[in-house]
Amino acid sequence: KTKIIKISDLYNDDIQYACDVLKNGGLVAFPTETVYGLGACALNPTAVKKIFEVKGRPQDNPLIVHLASLEQVNELAFVEEKYVNVIKRLTPGPVTFVLKKKEIIPPEVTAGLDTVGVRVPAHPIAQRLAQCAGPIAAPSANLSGKPSPTDAKSVIEDLFGLVECIIDAGESAFGIESTIIDLTRERPLVLRPGPVTIEELNEIFKEFGGVEFYIPKSDEKPLAPGMKYRHYAPEKVLKMVEPEKIQQYADKDVLILCTLETLEKYLRNAKNVHIIGEYAKPYTIAQNLYKSLRLVDKSPYPEAVIEKLPEEGIFFSIMNRIKKAVSKF
Ligand code: TXA
Ligand code: MG
Repeated sequence: KTKIIKISDLYNDDIQYACDVLKNGGLVAFPTETVYGLGACALNPTAVKKIFEVKGRPQDNPLIVHLASLEQVNELAFVEEKYVNVIKRLTPGPVTFVLKKKEIIPPEVTAGLDTVGVRVPAHPIAQRLAQCAGPIAAPSANLSGKPSPTDAKSVIEDLFGLVECIIDAGESAFGIESTIIDLTRERPLVLRPGPVTIEELNEIFKEFGGVEFYIPKSDEKPLAPGMKYRHYAPEKVLKMVEPEKIQQYADKDVLILCTLETLEKYLRNAKNVHIIGEYAKPYTIAQNLYKSLRLVDKSPYPEAVIEKLPEEGIFFSIMNRIKKAVSKF
């Protein structure tokens, strides 16, 4: 039932097929530069509802609407004049803007909120799809609770047989989900850290006094409803461990997820290690993180540990995901 389309050539005619699936109310998993998305036509409530069913997604968790270009934004949402330039600077790219929604967007997309998250992905295939099919509502293309898919293989693992079409365009460039900025408040508010870092945003939003970072209070409903769920999480026990303490897991019945540098420094001959990237090149860690988390459940080891990382720049976004993936006791 699921058609898998391998696309390395942007002008492959199969994009037309995927586009027709969307126009006919079907679901298409497609690549973006962050993670793979599970798309439905954003203006078709019946199609949008299918996304929630297929993923097992909680009803109160709104979807991001993907557009081919900024011109489409004004049809769907209100953009304050003062933000036009910063939005342009960050578009297309791995950033989602939360804006006041217009009537045209069905409540199924926004889980009843009066705001909508919109994003113009830089990935050429995502762009072509939105150009041809119109605005696409899409969460990450995983089953709810699992790590987001960063390649088609992971999408197939979760969604084969459940959706009409999966587009395979190789690995996602960033590997973690878009940065979400709420522009409906007094100050720009980062709801989810992502590939564009807080430091970069402070620079870009300088004239507005920088951005604030949203930390949900434990007793309140979070502004990005999705952020309250344990996420990206393996079924097995996963613990976070400081690099200098990781040695004690060498050759134990535990899978060690760590950076290349930590392996070289502390774990030279250990066999139970999987490299998540290079400390010196943190974007490689972002790119491999979710595949590594998926490996925890597939590996023969009954538990796993992951190296604790710093919290500056892109590391902050990576640690945000790791903290949601580790087991709470
Ligand atoms: O990179 C990404 O953002 C990927 C690709 C496919 O675009 N998408 C993605 O979607 O990560 P999802 O559904 O897994 O995460 C969307 C997050 C959720 O935490 C949701 O609560 C939040 O965005 N969100 C969506 N619309 C919102 C809104 N109107 N107000 C606040 N948060 C919103
Ligand atoms: Mg998701």
